[in-house]
Amino acid sequence: MELIKRPDNMERITSKELADKFIDEQVAEIRAQVGDSKVLLALSGGVDSSVVAALLIKAIGKQLVCVHVNHGLMRKGESEQVIEVFGKELDANLIYVDATDRFLDLLAGVADPEKKRKIIGKEFIEVFAEEGRKLEGIEFLAQGTIYPDILESINAAEGKKAVKSHHNVGGLPEDLQFELVEPVKLLFKDEVRVVGEALGLPHAMVYRQPFPGPGLGVRCLGAITRDRLHALREADAILREEFDNCGLAEKVWQYFIAIPDIKSVGVKDESRYEGWPAIIRAINTKDAMSATIEEIPYAVLHKITERITHEVEGINRVLYDLTPKPTGTIEWE
Ligand code: XMP
Repeated sequence: MELIKRPDNMERITSKELADKFIDEQVAEIRAQVGDSKVLLALSGGVDSSVVAALLIKAIGKQLVCVHVNHGLMRKGESEQVIEVFGKELDANLIYVDATDRFLDLLAGVADPEKKRKIIGKEFIEVFAEEGRKLEGIEFLAQGTIYPDILESINAAEGKKAVKSHHNVGGLPEDLQFELVEPVKLLFKDEVRVVGEALGLPHAMVYRQPFPGPGLGVRCLGAITRDRLHALREADAILREEFDNCGLAEKVWQYFIAIPDIKSVGVKDESRYEGWPAIIRAINTKDAMSATIEEIPYAVLHKITERITHEVEGINRVLYDLTPKPTGTIEWE
């Protein structure tokens, strides 16, 4: 990432008109920078990489090669949406890699959160680099760097200490050093979203809540197992569906389920049923440095509890985490 400062007089992109102007400028700049060469992009399906992909497709079409690595820790339906939107609707050059087994095999038995993050980050680079090496004629690497990433790196360079190693994706290996294309590097998140909508990306993709790089890996607490990960993905999908239904999805900054590696005794169909608890986290924040919890109406909590305990195999209780940050962090790991 190139550490450059946003000019003080740069206009904030708040409307479709301003976004269209930005898009035209970037399309011209990308064409001038890239020429006839090919550009590689790791497309996670998050807001930033999706907007960069859409911008590049507009500018250079099939010269862009998108690689979507499914690490097996995506939320329900996310990889499918990437394939649908980029592979089908936008007809992009998309390579889909299902690396679920590789990641889950490496993570088996690893309970320490920072070790999990390191394994996921390292393996991600490994899989992406393998795909990059198979391709010919790549000269550029596109990245969804946004301005807060640059500000964070400046803070880190000044020695400010972080609580967790959020920057899970490190640099690419020596043999894959390309010139960078970072078209949204001076934008804040809200501006990236306005640009994404102007580019015609689906609302749900553009307004997707923040999702950590290690994905469900840091929400399936402790050592990840496939059955608990599956239960987590299903329970999380129910939470999202119910938040959509009652309008909370538009209001709450981040919400998800975490499942700890403990079982409690319960009862289902008149028999003893040992299951995991699903923990609901729903928080509001401006900058993720501190956060307050959302006061979810009891009726919504009841509905979610009812659905998760009846529809998801392996879960017999639902808990609501009332802890603000501090003292809790937003994620449990
Ligand atoms: P915490 O848990 O530190 O989270 O209060 C603050 C914000 O950062 C996200 N988060 C991560 N994002 N890689 C990421 O890309 C990570 O390893 C990671 N850990 C936490 C978290 O979801 C929240 O939005």
